[in-house]
Amino acid sequence: MNSAPLLELRGLSKRFGAVQALEGFDLDVQPGEFVTVVGPSGCGKSTLFNIVAGLDEPDAGGILRFKGRGCHARELLGQVSFMPQRDLLLPWRNVVDNAILANEIEGANRSQARAKALSMLPEFGLTGFENQYPHQLSGGMRQRVALMRTFLFERELMLLDEPFGALDALTRSMMQRWLLDVWQRHRRTILFITHDVDEAIFLGDRVVVMTARPGAVKLMREVNLPRPRAPELLTSPEFTAIKREVLDAIEEEAMKSFLTGTAAAP
Ligand SMILES: Nc1ncnc2c1ncn2[C@@H]1O[C@H](COP(=O)(O)OP(=O)(O)OP(=O)(O)O)[C@@H](O)[C@H]1O
Ligand SMILES: [Mg+2]
Repeated sequence: MNSAPLLELRGLSKRFGAVQALEGFDLDVQPGEFVTVVGPSGCGKSTLFNIVAGLDEPDAGGILRFKGRGCHARELLGQVSFMPQRDLLLPWRNVVDNAILANEIEGANRSQARAKALSMLPEFGLTGFENQYPHQLSGGMRQRVALMRTFLFERELMLLDEPFGALDALTRSMMQRWLLDVWQRHRRTILFITHDVDEAIFLGDRVVVMTARPGAVKLMREVNLPRPRAPELLTSPEFTAIKREVLDAIEEEAMKSFLTGTAAAP
């Protein structure tokens, strides 16, 4: 992959009052790449995604390029698909109508969008639940509806903020393999936040470890493990070696954030 990066971030910083959330964050993402991001709680991961999704602006001085063109963060609104950390399902809409929300806002044909969503239900393990409302679903199911919404809003770059956080271990590993499969078939570019180091390595072409706040890149680790990836990989020596490196970097930062009191309040 030596084409021009799809996304280029240089020296991105963001301050909220007294809190410096990001400082000098640099990252290039190549088209079709799967990049995972880990880092201590409160280090600015979601802030980074809000900027790349066009929902927030970085402080002056940083450079943001998308598809080779320098742009303001706000211009990215609607150009990337984004699954926020909270699922943001609307309680008065059923599964299908929640799934097509972003398409509807965009002005897509409603019945076509519904038909597409219905056809995707089995892939997301939601068959038979199309007419249910969020309060009738489990946490994991709500997360899958939110994920389906992100996939239905077809953009080259997808930002997924801890999409499997509410899933039990078994469903989670099923969803990881499912996501890899979908990603390989659709050739989307994914930026993926997680607190799970195994997940970050299992999914990623590269793992970005962030520093404690202010967030910057602490470690950028290539994951040169063959694809398709099977669960056995998790216990291989190659996997374990990468995991050790990533864990060392995270532990150092987590310790720092506790000692300096920069860990996010629970
Ligand atoms: N809109 C905002 N206004 C004020 N402070 C904010 C805002 N958004 C984020 N912050 C602060 O910026 C810092 C980084 O927050 P962010 O949500 O990006 O962390 P995170 O890395 O996603 O954490 P977690 O892993 O817990 O989700 C935190 O100290 C948070 O309190
Ligand atoms: Mg977050």
